[in-house]
Amino acid sequence: MAAGSTAVSQEIQQEVERLRTELALHNHRYYVLDEPLISDAEYDQLFRRLVDLETEYPELHDPASPTQKVGAPPLAAFTQVRHTVPMLSLANVVSRAEMQEFHQRVQRTLETTQDVEYVAEPKIDGVAVELVYENGKLTVGSTRGDGVTGEDVTANLKTVRSIPLTLLSQPAHPIPRRLEVRGEVFLPKASFRSLNDTRAETGEPLFANPRNATAGSLKQLDSAITAQRPLDFFCYGVGQIEGDVFASYWELRRAFTGWGIKPVPLGRVCPTVEEVFTVCDDLETRRDSLEYDIDGVVIKVNSFALQAQLGQISRSPRWATAYKFPAIQATTTVLNIVPQVGRIGTLTPVAELAPVHIGGVTVKSASLHNMDEIKRKDIRIGDTVIVERAGDVIPYVVKTIPEKRTGRERSFVMPATCPVCGAQVAREEGEAAYRCTGPFCPAQLKESLKFFAARGSMDIDGLGEKIIDQLVDKKLAQDPGDLYLLTAEQLAALDRLGEKSAHNLVAALERSKTTTLPRLIAALGIRHLGEATARQLAEYFGDLDRIMQAEEEALQDVPDIGPEVARSVAAFFGQERNRAVVKKLLDTGVHFPRLEAKPAGRLHGQTFVLTGSLASLTRPQAKQRLEALGAKVTSSVSKKTDYVVAGIDPGSKRDKAEKLGVPILSEEELLEKL
Ligand code: IVH
Repeated sequence: MAAGSTAVSQEIQQEVERLRTELALHNHRYYVLDEPLISDAEYDQLFRRLVDLETEYPELHDPASPTQKVGAPPLAAFTQVRHTVPMLSLANVVSRAEMQEFHQRVQRTLETTQDVEYVAEPKIDGVAVELVYENGKLTVGSTRGDGVTGEDVTANLKTVRSIPLTLLSQPAHPIPRRLEVRGEVFLPKASFRSLNDTRAETGEPLFANPRNATAGSLKQLDSAITAQRPLDFFCYGVGQIEGDVFASYWELRRAFTGWGIKPVPLGRVCPTVEEVFTVCDDLETRRDSLEYDIDGVVIKVNSFALQAQLGQISRSPRWATAYKFPAIQATTTVLNIVPQVGRIGTLTPVAELAPVHIGGVTVKSASLHNMDEIKRKDIRIGDTVIVERAGDVIPYVVKTIPEKRTGRERSFVMPATCPVCGAQVAREEGEAAYRCTGPFCPAQLKESLKFFAARGSMDIDGLGEKIIDQLVDKKLAQDPGDLYLLTAEQLAALDRLGEKSAHNLVAALERSKTTTLPRLIAALGIRHLGEATARQLAEYFGDLDRIMQAEEEALQDVPDIGPEVARSVAAFFGQERNRAVVKKLLDTGVHFPRLEAKPAGRLHGQTFVLTGSLASLTRPQAKQRLEALGAKVTSSVSKKTDYVVAGIDPGSKRDKAEKLGVPILSEEELLEKL
């Protein structure tokens, strides 16, 4: 211990160590194995305790602590990293015949006529990275770059939940002195869709596909932004490895699992090339149902000794190749552009396309997202366009081919009234979206009911689009509460529904009445309120009545809830109609277990404004920690502000605080409070 510093008691040191080990274990259970052992709330509690201790005892700082996964101070630029062993690329094959040729080349080079054992696994369509672990601790993470030199994106990679900061020990393989892990960072399809939905609403340019979104997220200089994107990671190889030897790739994959790193899923050992064909066919059919994008299958010789014997030509190994799935782009024409009304009234322009086959599916329409997107891509009715579909992601227009224009193309104009209910269409200031303002628009109602019934919401098995459309058209359901008043007789009278299905649906409705508070709140479809935020809200207030009565101000006290969500929740429950729907739901028997409200934090009721940059933590980190203690962090200074924290180069907010007599805290004073 350095002279002058106070010794940290052994007890504290042990507690910190224990918390770190425990949190690393829970991260692994949650993000790698998808089998959590404790609830989110319990996890938060452990996490906060560790944050508290690390703040109180800065000498215990460790870059590999689980608390360091939330982001580091923003960078001015990325530095370059030279890979110890170059990161190669793969040659491609596009047919069985070419795969057969690859196999014959392997046999020729190895001078054998015997079968060769391969491993076939999905080719993940993400961004290649390398992670360097020294004595089990993640020290550097970089992009592939040109294969020889990449960019140092360590801070960003540390925010990826499934990338461990510390390797787990396992009996079979000691932790190598140095381990260079290679793999693919990617954004799951569902996260990609919701990221783009948010961007479409706020008018930000959309990402073309999950890979671009991943690349964009990894290139953020502020890792707090990366941390908000639910990136994931699979590994598929190593660079240098000091301290352990493996006979085969399959054995290495096993060791990765033991160290807490996920290998590319669905890999299989193939004793013959025929088995490789089977895996390729199998993965091609399953492609759409996977949660992440894959664009082919990688085929690797399993034995490392044989790999060494095969060597490489120019920039690709002779022991591996990539079987690329057929193209998923096609050219077609835009027959028309029509607005479609969504759950909250948003009018989304949809292109009706001349039907075209893409990757085994007939595509007839594509979302154009919003007017800004149409303008940016200059898409006109009558245009020839390139359409892409990636996995089960909704098909989209990549670009138009202006050379094919005849002069008869027309621009799309958003109608002034809703095509379904005839109400005024309005564009809110600062938003990209146009909205139908009709309070009883059947199109909005249908979408709300679909959302309410969907899996992940109330999960009403068998209540699909076709039935909901009829229920609304026949005025049998005018809000979600009406669903629970439906009788088997009423349902059996609908098209496509026999008596048996009608009874099944009634039973499914009955089952769905047993739910949880977060699910119910999320199912109501309140604007800007996703499932995670609904959970925060439920945990904070504990019961529905308190949430419904909470004022905008109080809602902002909930961790992760900013002014926009607070406004939206307050506005929703402010409407008599919505309160009546909730009442109807509860009256018809929808119920959920009570939650214990979280005790208010130490800084409950206090409002902070942060200005200038802080030396020891980022602003988002400071905000998160203040909120964890119950404080509210807002962006503008008013008489109601309790403290303004002024970092380096504070802006006009500091001046305003002085003028209003609001106390100003230095960074040290803030840390003391935390
Ligand atoms: S093995 C010698 N396995 O595909 C290179 N690569 O064009 C060994 N990729 O840069 C790579 N999934 O980014 C391998 N299961 C997988 C993969 C995979 C995706 C990417 C990787 C590489 C590119 C090769």
